Amino acid sequence: MSATPPMDRLMQAMRKNTLVRIYEEFDRDFADVHLKDLRVDEAGPGREIVIQGRRVMNFGSDSFLGLDRDPRLIEAVRQGLDRWGTHNGASRAFASVAANIEAEERLAAWLGVEATLIYPSATLANMGAIPGLVGRGDVVVLDEHAHNSIQEGAKLALAGGARVATFAHNDPDDLSRVLETLRPYRVALVCIDGVYSMSGVVPPMADLDRVARANEAVLYIDDAHGTGVLGENGRGTVLDALGSYENAFVVGSLSKAFSCAGGFVACSKTFQKLLKIRSNTYIFGGPVVPAYFDAIIKVIDILESDEYIAIRGRLDQRVTQLTRGLLDLDLVVMGGLTPIVSVLVGDEADTLRAGKFLFDQGYYVQSVLFPAVPYHGGVIRVQCNANHSAEAVDGLLAAFAAMRDVIPTPRRSDREQSKRLAG
Ligand SMILES: Cc1ncc(COP(=O)(O)O)c(C=O)c1O
Repeated sequence: MSATPPMDRLMQAMRKNTLVRIYEEFDRDFADVHLKDLRVDEAGPGREIVIQGRRVMNFGSDSFLGLDRDPRLIEAVRQGLDRWGTHNGASRAFASVAANIEAEERLAAWLGVEATLIYPSATLANMGAIPGLVGRGDVVVLDEHAHNSIQEGAKLALAGGARVATFAHNDPDDLSRVLETLRPYRVALVCIDGVYSMSGVVPPMADLDRVARANEAVLYIDDAHGTGVLGENGRGTVLDALGSYENAFVVGSLSKAFSCAGGFVACSKTFQKLLKIRSNTYIFGGPVVPAYFDAIIKVIDILESDEYIAIRGRLDQRVTQLTRGLLDLDLVVMGGLTPIVSVLVGDEADTLRAGKFLFDQGYYVQSVLFPAVPYHGGVIRVQCNANHSAEAVDGLLAAFAAMRDVIPTPRRSDREQSKRLAG
C-alpha cells in the first residue's frame, strides 16, 4: 500500500496535466507579469477598476453595451430583490417565478421565435440542451473551433449514446463529408458558434444550413457573443443569415452584452417543453437569481427602442477608432466585427509581458494564451464597451504604441511583404 495519502496522490496526478503544468510554469517563471486569477477591489466609476492597488481602465469586459453601470438595470435588480428575495430556493423543475416566464416570453418576441428557455448560463444551456436533444442513433457534429461549452455538451451526449465527430472550421464541404461518413444515423445536430469570439469570424451559416438540410441535420448555433450586439436590434447573427429559425436552435448569453446573468435556448414551444424534461442542468440545479429577470426585460426594452441605435453608434465608433489606430501602428489585428479586437503577439512570454506593460500604463486588457488560441499564437484581447470614452481609447492606443517599441510584436507590413514574396 502506498504511504502517500490519497489527497496528495490526487494533487500530484493533477499537476502532471499538461494545462496545469503550463499554467504553473508561467505562474512561477513570470510571476510579475502573469495577470491571471486577479482580485478586483473596486469597480467604477464608469469603466475603471482597481486591481493590485492600481486604478486602471477596464478593456476586458463583455459588457459591450456598457449596461452593467446603467442605473435602470441596477434599479431593476434592486426592485427584483425586494419582490423575490435573494434566490429562487428550488429547481425550476418545481416552480419558476413569474418574472422568469415573462423574461422568456419577452426574449422570444424580441428574437422572433416561438419560445425561449432560460438556463443559469449559456455554458449550462449547452451542457444541458446538447445531450438532452440527442440520444442513441443520433450524431453530434461540431465545428473544430466550437466553444468549449459546446464541446463539453458533446462529451455528455457521447456518454448518453450519441456519436460525436468534428468538421473543419467553417467548411461546409467538410461538414458534408463528415456527415456522409457517419451514416446511417437518425438525426444529426450540427453545433457551431454564431460568431467565433477569438477571431470575430461569423460562420457561413446559409451554406452550413444547406448541407444540414440535405443530410437530415439541424443546426445548433451558440450566438453568445452575437446576442445584443449583432443583427437588427441586437438579435444576433442567425436571423439575418438564415431568414428563419426553422432548422436551427439558437443559444444566447444574458451575461455579456445583456450585462445580467443567464443563457437561453431559442426554439419552438414544443422543444421548450421537451428541453425542460431532458436538460439535466435545468432540472438538477438552481436557476438565475430572480432579481435579474426585471433587468433582462429592461435590456430588451432598450434593444427594441431607438436608444439602441445610439448605443450601437457609440460602440461602433469606439471599435472603429481602436481598430484603425492599431492598424496605423502596423500591428496585426484580428476581429473588429464584434467589439472584441485582438492584437497578435505570438510568443507566450511576450504576450504576458505585453499585457503587463499595458496594465502598468493604466489599461487592463487580457493576455490570451494556448489553449484558448493556438500555441505560439498569443494575443492581447481588447473588449470595447459603449461607455468607453474616445479619450480612453486614445490613451490605450498610445500605450500600445509604447508597448510596440519594447516588446517584439508581429508587424502587418512584414506579414504582407512575406505573403507577397511567397506568392
Ligand atoms: C460561444 C460561447 N458560448 C458560451 C459562452 C459562455 O457564456 P456564459 O458566460 O453565459 O456561460 C461563451 C463565453 O465566452 C462563448 O463565447
